[in-house]
Formats: sequence, structure tokens, C-alpha cells
Amino acid sequence: MTTATRNFTLCALAALALGSAGCRQRMSDQPYYRPLEPTEFFADKRASRPIEKGTIHRGQYLETDPMATGLAAEEWARIYATASAPAPKPDAPMGDADRAKVAFGAPRYKPTDSTKVYVDEYPFAITASDLKRGQERYTIYCAVCHGALGNGQGKIWERGYLTPTSFHEGKVSATEVDATPKNSELLPLGYSRGYNLWNHRVSMADAPVGYYFEVITKGYGGMPSYSAQIAPDDRWRIIAYIRVLQMSQRTDPAKLPADVKKLLDEAGGKK
Ligand code: HEC
Repeated sequence: MTTATRNFTLCALAALALGSAGCRQRMSDQPYYRPLEPTEFFADKRASRPIEKGTIHRGQYLETDPMATGLAAEEWARIYATASAPAPKPDAPMGDADRAKVAFGAPRYKPTDSTKVYVDEYPFAITASDLKRGQERYTIYCAVCHGALGNGQGKIWERGYLTPTSFHEGKVSATEVDATPKNSELLPLGYSRGYNLWNHRVSMADAPVGYYFEVITKGYGGMPSYSAQIAPDDRWRIIAYIRVLQMSQRTDPAKLPADVKKLLDEAGGKK
């Protein structure tokens, strides 16, 4: 280093040291309270303020929103009526007392012919990219047990886990074993066990989408809840993809559009 450069470097450092005191960042150095720290400012001496009634966090769906429950608005009104609370408007935010009544382990309500329990429409329009995402999420979260075909013969089942409900009526592949559990002999393959508990014979292909949503959200029997892993939007996309699987087994290939039929023929599918 030459003397000139050394002098320049020293000068620059000195300028920096002097200058930095002047342009200190005060934004980062403001008064603040740690969570739950006491304060004299408020009468209750709590620096952390209680959350205002009706506050929702960003992106939260209201409990009365079919997007987050799969339940029909009529069913909400009925739950409230039976909980002897005034029935709220379906889009009204719930108070804490109301929430406590219905939030945990709300039962699967006995369907009657007069009440619509679950929604049978998706809360948003399903596009091709939603189906793709649904397929991806299904493969990650469901196929391990329910199988890539949705016939309940996934890898975990192969290793001895409980037999999941098949999403199809009857066998969907020649090599499929009939793994219908012994205690549901009266229930044909592909029929909902949940509905059977209420003595309703409903095939999984006819079960409303809201019912699938509830099963994913809360679990059913030997099936765990997936509400922590899968956001509501993705649950709906998975359901849409299960419908694709079901259609793939129920549709007569002769009735397919010519271009789709060609693809199927090329893939060596059923004639
Ligand atoms: C760990 C294994 C496992 C995973 C993963 C799993 N399931 Fe299940 N599922 C089961 C079993 C087992 C049953 C049958 C439960 C019973 O009869 O007790 C079942 C039942 C169901 C039912 C039918 C309930 C009825 O009425 O018969 C639906 C719908 C369902 N699962 C959807 C899904 C979806 C969607 C996913 C992915 C998000 C998924 N499951 C992931 C094991 C699993």
C-alpha cells in the first residue's frame, strides 16, 4: 500500500466513524413493550391488549362460511337452533360463546330428507390448474392410504393399515383384492361408512363434496384429520380431483370427445 492510499483509507475510516454517530437509525430504537409486560398506561395495567370482539386474522374464513366447513347454510341454522342459541345469519361473525358451542368435534349430523347437511357445490369455480394442484395434493396426502386410483389400496394399506373406503363402486382393476372389512359385509364396496352409520346407503361417488370436506377436516374413524396440513382451498381441490378419479372409472369411453378418446386409445386404455 502506498502512503497516499494508506492516508486515504485512514481518512475514510475516520469520516465513517464520525459520520455514523450522526446518521444513527432511530426507527429501530423506539419504545416498545414485550408481550405481557405491565404498563401504567392502561387501567388494567396490561400492555398486551385483549383482542377486539369479531377480530379475524388475515385470510381467515368465518366458521359459517361453506368454504371452511362444507356445511350448508341451512345446517348452520339448524345447529344453532338445537344449541338453543339464536340462529345467526350465515355470514355473521360468531361471538366467543357461540364459537365454544360448535367449534370442537361438532358431530356429523344425521342427514334427513328435509335438511341439506353438506354443500354439494364447490365454494369457488374449479379450473384445470385447480385440478392439477388437487392431483398433486392428493398424491402427497391421500394416495399413501387411498391408492393412486382411489380404491383404498395404497402403500400404507399394503403394510397392514385399516382398509380405507374405496371411492369407486366395485373393483376398478383386475388385480384388485376385495378388501371390504368383515364388519361391513352388508355395505358394498365404494359406499360411505359414515353415511352407513346413519343408516343411509350413499355411494362415495354420490356423497356430496361437503362431506368429503368434513372428513378431510376432522378425520373419520381410522382416518386422521388433515386440517393442519391442508389449507381449506386445497381440500376443495383434492375433492375435485377425487371426482376426476371417479369419473375416470364411471365414464363410457365411447362417449368421450374424439380427441380425448384418441389419447386413451394411444395409452392402451379400455376400448
Ligand atoms: C393414514 C391413512 C389415510 C390417509 C393418509 C387418508 N385416509 Fe381417508 N381413510 C382412511 C381410512 C382407514 C378410512 C376408513 C376409516 C374407517 O372406516 O374407520 C378412510 C376414509 C375416508 C373417507 C370415507 C369416509 C366414509 O364415509 O366411508 C374419505 C372421504 C376419505 N378417507 C378421504 C381422504 C382424503 C381426501 C385424504 C387425503 C387428504 C385421505 N382420506 C387420507 C385412511 C387414510
